[in-house]
Amino acid sequence: MRGAELTSVEEVLDRVRKELAEGRLPVEIFNSPVVFAAEQERLFRRAWLFLAHDSEIPEPGDYVLRNLAGNSVIVVRDEQGTVRCLLNMCRHRGNQVCKAAMGNASHFRCSYHGWTYANDGRLIGVPHIRTVYDGRLRRSDWNLLEVRTESYQGLIFGCLDPGAPDLEEYLGGFQFYLDIYLRPGPGGTEVYAPPNQWVTETDWKICAENFAGDGYHTPVAHQFGFQLGYYASSASTHSQGYAVHFPHRGHGIGLGRTPGMTPFFGYPDEVVQGMAEALSPAQLELFKETRTAVSTVFPNLSLLIQPFSVTPGEPGVRFCTMRLWQPIGVGRMQMLSWCLVPKDAPEAYKAEAYRAYTLAFGHGGMFEQDDFDNWSRVTAMAGNPAAQELSFPYLMGLEREPIADFPGPGVAVTPYMTETNFRNMWQTWLEYLERP
Ligand SMILES: [Fe+2]
Repeated sequence: MRGAELTSVEEVLDRVRKELAEGRLPVEIFNSPVVFAAEQERLFRRAWLFLAHDSEIPEPGDYVLRNLAGNSVIVVRDEQGTVRCLLNMCRHRGNQVCKAAMGNASHFRCSYHGWTYANDGRLIGVPHIRTVYDGRLRRSDWNLLEVRTESYQGLIFGCLDPGAPDLEEYLGGFQFYLDIYLRPGPGGTEVYAPPNQWVTETDWKICAENFAGDGYHTPVAHQFGFQLGYYASSASTHSQGYAVHFPHRGHGIGLGRTPGMTPFFGYPDEVVQGMAEALSPAQLELFKETRTAVSTVFPNLSLLIQPFSVTPGEPGVRFCTMRLWQPIGVGRMQMLSWCLVPKDAPEAYKAEAYRAYTLAFGHGGMFEQDDFDNWSRVTAMAGNPAAQELSFPYLMGLEREPIADFPGPGVAVTPYMTETNFRNMWQTWLEYLERP
């Protein structure tokens, strides 16, 4: 047996390249110090990473603190309405300039020596500047560091790589599927409440993979949800539907269908009407018979729409959750989980959707607990010395031909239960990590 700490990341990546081509993945990529370090450097500093939803900071001065690839950042709407991502660190001696997780501020004033920044990041106040700096300190040289941001349909992303392509190219056509979550009406979406947050001993990749379309686990891991009548699908038909991926971009979506289901069930009429106005005929055609839409925007943002019965046995209420799987250490992550609701929907539906989300996917949610119990055990097992030479099979759908006339972009296969999206996610992960 090899000790994980003695293996270089290049050796690990060599193994991944060889095995992935044959439909296997080395277990040693999970819960690994060398892989964690390489991911931080080569993936998270290069990719577009999710920061916040527009509706979390609607007014000038509104801000939230977030973690961008290990950096504490302030995502703020400045007085002109521009969204900015500022490094939360005073340029004088490095103190955190903003300490509250969310709020509204025209200025950020450092609690150490009092340097004060406008909410657009400009240094505008330096105590005793005339008497102690003798004209040597030019304020404009010491603004808060700003990170590149772009947004799509209310989702604000940041990227630490100035040479990375723009967000539109990064998403590369996945917008067609993102609209299913983000355009349930002409007004788009809003967060119902601040995100649920917790820390868990889980490798982020397990979660990102699961949400790229793991329909296989649902009838097993969440069997009590089925049996108790909270979830309108049956194990016998659960495999039906599609999996779509975007080569070299890593994004993937699973579209689970229930044969004969009432189109758009679980939404009130107002939302169905809103979707008819906001979505294209091709999007509507695909979505009307979709029971579950579960996806990962590479690397670590996921979205899910599914029905969940607040009262067992009833067909269920559609809710949408968005979640960020943020690595904060080896086999350890910070979880942020939001509920998105259609902005124009009736308030009563928004409240009901949030109730369904909370029961299923809030931090104490039934499905959430099922998943994280499994995922943290997988993480722990992957750290066992005996696991370092093992591999997992990724053989489902290995030679499956794509659907030729699929209505949406990307590479689509059927059924919904497959590992095609996952192989693509791992291939993209490998491509990032192999770039020195
Ligand atoms: Fe799950």
